[in-house]
Amino acid sequence: MAVLAPSILSADFARLGEEIRATEAGGAGMIHVDVMDGHFVPNITIGPLVAAAVRRITDLPMDCHLMIADPDRYAAAFVEAGAEMVSVHAEAAVHLHRTVQAVRGMGAKAGVVLNPATPLSALEEILTDVDYVLLMSVNPGFGGQRLIPSVLHKARRLRERIDAADLDVRIEIDGGVTEENLAEVAASGVDMVVAGSAVFGTGDPEAATRRLVERLAQLARREHSC
Ligand code: DX5
Ligand code: ZN
Repeated sequence: MAVLAPSILSADFARLGEEIRATEAGGAGMIHVDVMDGHFVPNITIGPLVAAAVRRITDLPMDCHLMIADPDRYAAAFVEAGAEMVSVHAEAAVHLHRTVQAVRGMGAKAGVVLNPATPLSALEEILTDVDYVLLMSVNPGFGGQRLIPSVLHKARRLRERIDAADLDVRIEIDGGVTEENLAEVAASGVDMVVAGSAVFGTGDPEAATRRLVERLAQLARREHSC
């Protein structure tokens, strides 16, 4: 079944520890940390110091999504901060292969992220070297946007490509996931589902996480019995 990754972008940062623990109690599988620098995307969020603080307050794997102009320079700092997973945008990394190798060499999982308009062909020379691909289903920068439906077709095509080549590469999807579109998202064959506002915008992140996780389990059972 697909794992739920609550994105702390929509959390109350004044109560970040409590908010993360609530999603942990609700059954979250990992914590998604959105790193933005005001250059690659028009928003500024958090850096390695806050990532290290997140690492200290949860046992869940920490998944750092770097939306920054120079990921080659900073990826290692997030592994040092305790991230088990670090993903960099194909649109931003000049030395993508080197950065992926560096992250893996430090013992973390390395992911490559594609914006909605970036074709799967951008993965051509890197797919066999990564642990996961993160498909953006909104244009990065902000939480609470609507999912771009064509990205689900892109996810299906990527799933087929990975399965056909029998690769050990997972697919993560990020942006605009709601309780309403979760079934469609899960049916696209993704392994990890990020949800920000659907978890933290509800006022009860534990209950929202539980509902989303239970729904993912139900959808996986249904898929299995077909
Ligand atoms: C967008 C971020 C997402 C975002 C998801 O740039 O990468 O992780 O927080 O938030 P929702 O689920 O509200 O679209
Ligand atoms: Zn993200």
